[in-house]
Amino acid sequence: MKRGEKVVLLLMAVMVVGVMARNWWVGRGQGVRDRTIPFYTTATPALAKQGAELYRQNECRQCHSLWTVRNMMESVPAPALDGIGSLHDESWFFRYFSAKNPQEIIPSRLKPEYRMPSYASLPETDRHVLAQYMASLKVQDWYLADTRKAEYEKLTGKEYHP
Ligand code: HEC
Repeated sequence: MKRGEKVVLLLMAVMVVGVMARNWWVGRGQGVRDRTIPFYTTATPALAKQGAELYRQNECRQCHSLWTVRNMMESVPAPALDGIGSLHDESWFFRYFSAKNPQEIIPSRLKPEYRMPSYASLPETDRHVLAQYMASLKVQDWYLADTRKAEYEKLTGKEYHP
């Protein structure tokens, strides 16, 4: 091997090791905190479809954001629904959507027209589907505390001190 070839090989080896070291450094601790979107759903495709349809029909996005979608013309400070299924379970959602007065379950700090409306008059099956769909909206453990904090601050308008 010529001297020049040796130098080229050596340089390539240094680069490969460098890239590997960098990937290791960046990837370290991925299990604890990977930097992807923390929200996901456990819904089957059928439930996701039905749930999204009811969500649209009942104009939930007038006030809420979900998957970063919301009505830009409205500015109701309602909690985001991403990850909400990690904060309550399905039976809680069913009770909440069935309540004549949802503010008995979660008090509101908002003007009456911005508060969570009662969905008690929806057919029971629709309330069940909505509850199942909401319960399927999960957040990864590493983002649970942030989600809870954001919810608390939206609901109360106060700073969160766990
Ligand atoms: C008029 C605005 C408005 C509409 C429409 C609306 N919500 Fe709400 N929702 C709120 C507000 C505001 C709250 C917070 C409690 C309050 O202030 O009444 C809330 C609370 C909630 C909560 C509890 C959130 C938490 O942090 O625990 C869930 C779940 C929810 N809404 C789901 C829905 C679904 C599903 C729909 C459609 C079927 C819907 N909302 C339609 C305004 C709205």
